[in-house]
Amino acid sequence: MRHLITLDDVSREEIHRIFALTEDIKTKFLAGVREPLFPGRVMAMLFEKQSLRTRVSFQAGMAHMGGTSMMLGDDVGFGKRERIDDFTKVLCQFVDVIVMRCKQHETVEQVAQHATCSVINGLTDVAHPCQALADLYTIEEHVHSLEDAKLTWVGDANNVARSLAVACGKLGVHFAIASPQGYEFSPAFLESLRAQCPDMQLTITADPHEAVTDASAVYTDVWASMGQEKEQAQRKKDFADYQVNEKLMASAPQGALFMHCLPARRGEEVTDAVLDSPNSIVVEQAGNRMHAQKGILAWLLGTQRS
Ligand code: CP
Ligand code: NVA
Repeated sequence: MRHLITLDDVSREEIHRIFALTEDIKTKFLAGVREPLFPGRVMAMLFEKQSLRTRVSFQAGMAHMGGTSMMLGDDVGFGKRERIDDFTKVLCQFVDVIVMRCKQHETVEQVAQHATCSVINGLTDVAHPCQALADLYTIEEHVHSLEDAKLTWVGDANNVARSLAVACGKLGVHFAIASPQGYEFSPAFLESLRAQCPDMQLTITADPHEAVTDASAVYTDVWASMGQEKEQAQRKKDFADYQVNEKLMASAPQGALFMHCLPARRGEEVTDAVLDSPNSIVVEQAGNRMHAQKGILAWLLGTQRS
């Protein structure tokens, strides 16, 4: 049974396969064709944190493709009423795929371990693989070739940054990251990244101006992720020099794209001038979440059939 828990689970070839499925489904969708690829298929969704993009794009996507989805709320008692292995084995009797957003990464891993249907990570504190796949697909729509592209992350080396780094490593994109001291990738993550992507071009610096040099796209995210609200004030101080503003974008090549997974805290990690600039592709990125997740579903449900 295949799952998508982190991008360690997919090879470069599989990512290209997902992108090809995405391209086909998106092109048809934009031409008004909603192919019913999943009639009678059911997707369960379990979200322990808030979500607009991930939740709605998965549900809308499943509906477009002739399947159905259900948001499981507190009433199913996940993690409270019975053991997670019992819960998972029973849920898999009813549904074809489970999408989860969890506070603890281990919870998604535990569900995947016991699931007899595919499990998709819709964000944990460790990874956000659906976001990174949609983002790399979006970059590919804009650049001549992914192998000539450079993605620069400015800010916290968080869940989204980790998934983007792995996606870039697997797809031959130069990944640069500028983070303040104390907020960098852990040595364990870097070891795993280098083991998976030994030829990857990786730039790690504390200087955001150096990092954005030659960038095809500059990407940032909130300074305090969901679950880190208590650290907000301290992080605001620690990240003060890492705001993506017009001055920083002036150090990037003219025409460099601006990206953000959203939701944004305008005036903190990014200014209005950058977020609303003609080079900002944040809304398009969000739109591609749905197309890419249809590609992911087509790939995963396809592997189930074979
Ligand atoms: N980018 C993203 O995952 O957004 P949501 O938290 O709204 O799902
Ligand atoms: N890093 C952010 C991403 C939200 C989509 C968070 O985890 O809250």
